[in-house]
Order: sequence, then structure tokens, then C-alpha cells
Amino acid sequence: MTNTNDSFKKVISHAKEYGYVVQSSEIYDGLGAVYDYLQNGVELKNNIKEYWWKAMVQLHENILGIDSAIFMHPTTWKASGHVDAFNDPLIDNKDSKKRYRADVLIEEHAEKLLQKAHKEINKAAKRFGDDFDEEMFKETNPRVQSYLSKREDILQRMAKHLDANDLNAVKELILELEIACPISGSKNWTDVKQFNLMFGTEIGASAENSMKLYLRPETAQGIFVNFLQVQKSGRMKLPFGIAQIGKAFRNEIVARQFIFRMREFEQMEMQFFIKPGTQHEWYEKWKKRRLAWHLSLGLDKENYRFHKHEKLAHYADAAADIEFNFPFGFKELEGIHSRTDFDLSSHEEHSGKKIQYFDNDENKSYVPYVIETSIGVDRMFLAIFSKALQEESLENGTTRTVLKLPAILAPVKVAVLPLIKKDGLPEIAHQIIDDLKWDMNTVYDEKDAVGRRYRRQDAAGTPFCITVDHQTIEDRTVTLRYRDSMEQKRLSIEELKPILLNEVSMSSWLQRMKNFTD
Ligand code: GAP
Repeated sequence: MTNTNDSFKKVISHAKEYGYVVQSSEIYDGLGAVYDYLQNGVELKNNIKEYWWKAMVQLHENILGIDSAIFMHPTTWKASGHVDAFNDPLIDNKDSKKRYRADVLIEEHAEKLLQKAHKEINKAAKRFGDDFDEEMFKETNPRVQSYLSKREDILQRMAKHLDANDLNAVKELILELEIACPISGSKNWTDVKQFNLMFGTEIGASAENSMKLYLRPETAQGIFVNFLQVQKSGRMKLPFGIAQIGKAFRNEIVARQFIFRMREFEQMEMQFFIKPGTQHEWYEKWKKRRLAWHLSLGLDKENYRFHKHEKLAHYADAAADIEFNFPFGFKELEGIHSRTDFDLSSHEEHSGKKIQYFDNDENKSYVPYVIETSIGVDRMFLAIFSKALQEESLENGTTRTVLKLPAILAPVKVAVLPLIKKDGLPEIAHQIIDDLKWDMNTVYDEKDAVGRRYRRQDAAGTPFCITVDHQTIEDRTVTLRYRDSMEQKRLSIEELKPILLNEVSMSSWLQRMKNFTD
């Protein structure tokens, strides 16, 4: 078993043990790729959503939020292209009977070539030290050149075949690259087939009156069909955006990575409506703004990278992902797409209603272009949670498991611990909680020695502990312990609130975005 596998398994078991995420319907042996968020999980998830909502809706005068229904008229999905084109190319391995996405198999093969190139570059960087010129080395080293151009060639060929819906050629490419099934190790593949990912259902009581519906596979269409209503009722001028958070459903076939790829998940999407011709400028701006949002949470910037799409979705004229370094490698966390006027024009055509913006300055109507930012809440959860989970070796030779969640996202901000369960210490601890609970989530913990309680809170992700001891009775001071540094400070009870409010202040966390955009 690899270290990567080990660390990912730890993430999954930690999420369960500490009340974050469990498989849905576990007592019935679970449901594949469907998960439940428990007491800590729901708090972390809500905090992620609030952090996004405020960054989008509160901080932008020209972005409004909505909450549209999951059920939509079935023509929506014809207009959006999902009925005809929301497919995954699937391939089965005849020996292991496992099913894979053909494009993912090829992309993973290409990623290995990139890793080989990086290995060469890192080796050379060590050899040459400060004199190393990475760009020059990349351009001149034959081995690196060969890895990179092979990778480029593979991705381009795959994009061409998928664009042409030439599934035989996709299979040929898999055979040519000698890609083997990770389970059986064999190259005994079936043909590649397209599979539509939308879940169907029905509305209406009787068979004659029922209408076939889909569970929405993205929240974006709820924004497009309401574009004109929001623009008119909000009296918005271009450029402006509409944001939404909500559930989406996809019948994912390859769903083996915990909450990375789920069948029921949540998206945070924003469609930014702009004048045609300005899409390049706005696409670049939103790429920068979204990366700044991620970086404001304090994770190392090496964990993020942009990946430009070679194969564009049916609606896009440019697209990039913000990829994150998950325990299983760099993968898509968020998509930023320049969607042209595809969706609005298509809804115009299918509904027969005019969906146009009247531009007063130009004295004409037109269909706006759109830049979309789209991120999965659950995938963001996994990114933050998996990076936060750390095993630390301490100076005294012991180790601790600590969940270093950004304080603004942590489910519980403060644990209040009376040193012992008597002598009036629990009462003081409860008074502290009564004072803090109006502003933040708190927890009371009196069981076990205080050192064990610290470890328990470290592992649960609580950024601050307050310990009440006998000295508290004499001088109203307590110990404030910081999870990440384990530093302890003696403070008066009155000093606690302003310090903690500052540590978990939404505005000061969000303002960190400025460090990455200016
Ligand atoms: N409206 C555009 C759209 O839906 P997408 O790339 O298919 O684009 C956007 O999805 C984001 O939604 C992804 O970057 C990912 O974070 C999240 N996402 C997509 N499918 C998912 C799944 N099956 N499980 C969890 N998150 C998913």
C-alpha cells in the first residue's frame, strides 16, 4: 500500500471518528458515492458556504444571490445540451470487471509523464543550486522535452477524438499507450461507450399525467432561466453576476474517492453576465479572484495550480480548473469557464421568449456573454479537511494528531475546560460559554485529564481551548491555548472575547484576499 493511500484512508476514518462525514445509510451497508455530514461536518460545510457567499454576494455590489428549485422544466436540459452531451466515455476492464472513464485513464497516463519531467527538473535544480535556470532547462533538456511533448501530444489527440465523438479512436489510444487496469493489471478492454449522467424521475400522480424530469446536474441552469427576472427586478446593468448554492446530482460511474466524486453533491456557482467581446478580460479577472479566495484561507500556494482545458465543454470558449493537491494528487477543485452566450441563446430558442439585455449606452439589445465560476462544496471540504489533518512529532518525543482547519471554518471555535469537576470551576466555565456562545460555537469538556482533552480538541479541529483552574477563582484569569502552536497565555476572562472575536472574524479573514489580488 502506498503512503498516498494510507494518508487518504486516515482522512476518511478521521472524518468518521470525529463526526464529520459518514457513508449514507451505513446500517444497510451504505449507498455508493452518497455521504452524510454529521455534527461537525455540517458546521464545516456551512462555514465554507458562508465564506463563499459573503465573498461573492456581500463583497460585490454587482452580484446577487438566488435559490432556484432542483426540479426544472425538462426542456431546460435539452436547451443546456445535457440531454445530448452530458456523457462520460466509459470503458470496462474484462478481467477485473471494473468500469473506468476512458478520458481519466488517458489523463492519468499523461500526468505520469508530467511527473517524470518534474523529477528531472528537481534533480537538476539540486545539482545546479542557485545557478539553476528552470525555464532554460525545460526548453533545452532532451529528456524533459520528450516527456512534455509526449504528454501534450496525448492530450491533444484525446481532445480531438472526444470532440469528434470517435470512441474507437479513444480505445485505440488506450491500447497504444498500453494503459493497464490498476486492479487486474491487464490491458483487456471493452469498447468505449457514452453514458448519460443525469438521474431521471417523474412528476405527477398518474402514468398518463406524469412528466419525465431530471434531477439537476448543475445549479447553473437555475441562474440562466432567471437571468432576466433578476436583471429587471434588481435593476442591474452589465456587468453583473448571479450566485447560487445548491444540490446537484450526477450518476457518476467512477465514484471511488470519498466525497471527491459523489452522486449527490452541492455546488457554489456564479454566472457573471458581460458584454460580448469582454470575455477574455473577465475570464482572467475571475481566475485571479477565485485563486485569491482560496489563498485567503492560509493554505500554502503550492497546493493550487491552474489547468487549462484542452477539450472544451460544449458551451465554453475558454476554460481552466483550479486544481488542488489532494491526498491522491492534483485534481480539479473549481472550474472557471467562459460560456459565451450559449446558454441564454439556447434558452431563447427553446422557450421562444426573448432573453436579451437592453444596453442603454449602445441603444441596442443583445444576449450577454457569461463567465462562470463553479466549485463543489464537498470537494472544497475535502481539500481543506485533508490538508488540515496532520500527524506532528513533538519535542517530548510523542506525536499528536491535529486537524489544523482555518479558524474561520472550524466547526467549534472554542472548548472551555474546567481543570477539575468541582470547587466551582465548572460553573465559571459555563459562565464563559454563556458569554461567548452568542458569537461563536463553543463546547464544554470536563472528562479526562486536561492534556487528553487538549489532544481530543486538537484532533476535532477546535482552534482554541480555555482552561479554568483554581487561580481563576482568585484573580479571574484563565489559560488560552492555541491549537496550532500549542502556545498557552494567561489572560483575564474579560480579555478573552475581543481576542477570540478577532481570530474568527469573517471580515479579517476575507480581507486577506486583498493580499493576493492587488
Ligand atoms: N456549471 C458547470 C459545472 O457544473 P463541472 O466542472 O461539471 O462544471 C463544477 O462542476 C464543480 O462541481 C467541479 O469543479 C467540482 O468541484 C464539483 N463537482 C462536479 N462533479 C462533482 C461530483 N460528482 N461530486 C462532487 N463535486 C463535484
